[in-house]
Amino acid sequence: MPGQLETPRPGNGRGPGAPPASPQPEPPRSATPLLVEGTVNGIRISVPKGTTLLRAARLCGVEIPTLCHHEGLPPEGSCRLCVAEIRGQLAVSCMFPLRDDGFKALTDTPAVMDARRYVLSLLINRAPKAPRIRKLADEYGVAPDPRFMKDPDGCVRCGRCVRACRANGPEAIALAGRGFGRSVTGPFRKPPEACIGCLACALCCPTGKITFAEKDGARRIWDREFSLAPCPECGARVFTAEQIAFYGGSASAACPSCRKKLMASELKKAAAYEAPDGLPLP
Ligand code: SF4
Ligand code: SF4
Ligand code: FES
Repeated sequence: MPGQLETPRPGNGRGPGAPPASPQPEPPRSATPLLVEGTVNGIRISVPKGTTLLRAARLCGVEIPTLCHHEGLPPEGSCRLCVAEIRGQLAVSCMFPLRDDGFKALTDTPAVMDARRYVLSLLINRAPKAPRIRKLADEYGVAPDPRFMKDPDGCVRCGRCVRACRANGPEAIALAGRGFGRSVTGPFRKPPEACIGCLACALCCPTGKITFAEKDGARRIWDREFSLAPCPECGARVFTAEQIAFYGGSASAACPSCRKKLMASELKKAAAYEAPDGLPLP
C-alpha cells in the first residue's frame, strides 16, 4: 500500500520459499601485483612493475651498452644500441617496461650481438673519433667503413643535448631536418637566442661534438659569448649572468663550493650554540 513501510521478512529476507541468496561476490582485489619476477640471462630478479629491462639488467649486474640513454633524462630510444631479446624478439631495453611475471630476457644472443654490431657500424661512421664509440666498436669488432664516411660530423643524433636543454628549462636547441641533413641547432639554424650558456648539452653529449671554451671571464658555446659572474667569496666564475637570471638567482650569490662551506660553518655555529638558561635552542 502506498505509504506503508515494507517489513523485514524472516529467513533470507526475501520471503518464504524464495531461493537461497547467491553468495556475495568477493570484493575486487584492489592490489594488482606491484612487483614482477623474471630472469635476465638466467639471473632471477624481482622488480617494480614498469621497470625498464635496462634497469633490471643493471640491477642483475648485467651490462648493456647504451648511448642515447642518460639516467637523469627521459628516455628516447633513438640509438638502438641497448637491444636485448625478450619473448624471442629484439627490444629496445631502455624503453621496454617489464609488466608481466615470468619474463626471460637475454642480452647476449647472436641476434642481439648482430643488431648491436649493425648499430655500431652506423654510429662509428658518424662519429669515428668519439672515444666511447671507438671503444664499443673495438669491443664488438666493428671497423669504420670508408664508403659511408662522408663528412662525419661527430654527432650521432642521439638527442641527449636537446633533452638536457629541455629538462633544464631553456629549450634553446632542437634536432632539425631529415636523414643526413638532420642536426642539432637553434631555431632557423642560427645560434640559439634562448641559450643561457649552462653547458648541460655539452656535458652530456656522448661524442664531444658540442664544444665550449672559457677565457677571460667569458664562456663561448653555440657561437655565443656569455660573461661569467664572479663568486663574491672566492672569485671563481662558475655561472653565466644569463644562467643566474634564468633561475631567478642573485648575481651576488656564492658559488656552489662556497655555499657548501658557508652552510657547513653555519651548522657548526648552530651546533656550538649554548642557549642561556631558560631559553630554547634555536
Ligand atoms: S648551453 Fe645553451 S643550448 Fe646548451 S643546455 Fe644550456 S641553454 Fe641549452
Ligand atoms: S650533439 Fe651530441 S648529444 Fe647532441 S645529438 Fe649529437 S651526439 Fe647526441
Ligand atoms: S640507449 Fe637505448 S636506444 Fe639508445
